[in-house]
Amino acid sequence: MSVESSGNTEITLEIAGLSHSFLHNGAAEPVLRNISLSIRRGELVCLVGRSGCGKSTLLKIIAGFLSPSRGHCLLEGRPISGPGPDRCVVFQEEALFPWLTVRENIAFGLRGKRWTPAIRNHQVDRFIELVGLRGYDEHLPRALSGGMKQRVALARVLILSPLILLMDEPFGALDAQTRDEMQELLLSLSQERSQTILFVTHDVQEAVTLADRVLLMDQDSGRIREDVRVELERPRDRSAPPFQQYCIQLHQLLRQTGPRPMIAD
Ligand SMILES: Nc1ncnc2c1ncn2[C@@H]1O[C@H](COP(=O)(O)OP(=O)(O)OP(=O)(O)O)[C@@H](O)[C@H]1O
Ligand SMILES: [Mg+2]
Repeated sequence: MSVESSGNTEITLEIAGLSHSFLHNGAAEPVLRNISLSIRRGELVCLVGRSGCGKSTLLKIIAGFLSPSRGHCLLEGRPISGPGPDRCVVFQEEALFPWLTVRENIAFGLRGKRWTPAIRNHQVDRFIELVGLRGYDEHLPRALSGGMKQRVALARVLILSPLILLMDEPFGALDAQTRDEMQELLLSLSQERSQTILFVTHDVQEAVTLADRVLLMDQDSGRIREDVRVELERPRDRSAPPFQQYCIQLHQLLRQTGPRPMIAD
């Protein structure tokens, strides 16, 4: 297939006609079917859908960990052909190097940048400060709480300024209060630097809190079923009727997406 970008320089990610199947007992089972979407520079887009609908699969394709069976995926107009430093992924599970300190974990990805040691140290200090971990610089991950580890995970990707940050339920394992704090932190840091983000979550309230747009994936068809723009000022008040209206709307749409047989939600 010939790959052409739309030529729109405001578009960071452009996916067209993307399908993916996995082999099950020798037969190809489609998971994603003919997905098309685009994400503009600086947008924070949440991807919501029932368990097993293919959210992580789509993220892995964008990250370059998986090649799609069909279709194309362009990052700033260039085809994605494998993992690269222009994309960073944050997972729910802890992904820090357990033998490296907080400072070393945050500095790890900077080896590819031609920064002087002084600039590197300054940047690492800045990010440690920004994520509220001053004083924990020399701690190993095992000495940190779950929320603190996700702060380190956030710092180590934001410091790299990737073209797109891919987040797969990054706060899913945190308690409600820590999760709220992490959402606030992500919003303030990403808005400040106009970081483009694709954020997967099961949680409709989290999506309405964070997103400029919410994409709803349909399990049966393997497609993006709805693309809902969240027109609410930030910071968003969860107790306000318009916020709750978005949550109700998305819950209703989610109920219509229907689970596949045999998959519990
Ligand atoms: N490597 C694989 N080999 C075979 N099948 C796979 C593989 N990875 C995922 N699948 C299947 O693809 C479907 C989508 O999986 P995926 O992990 O993308 O879902 P998800 O939307 O991220 O779910 P969850 O919300 O539970 O994380 C599932 O039916 C899953 O069993
Ligand atoms: Mg998943």
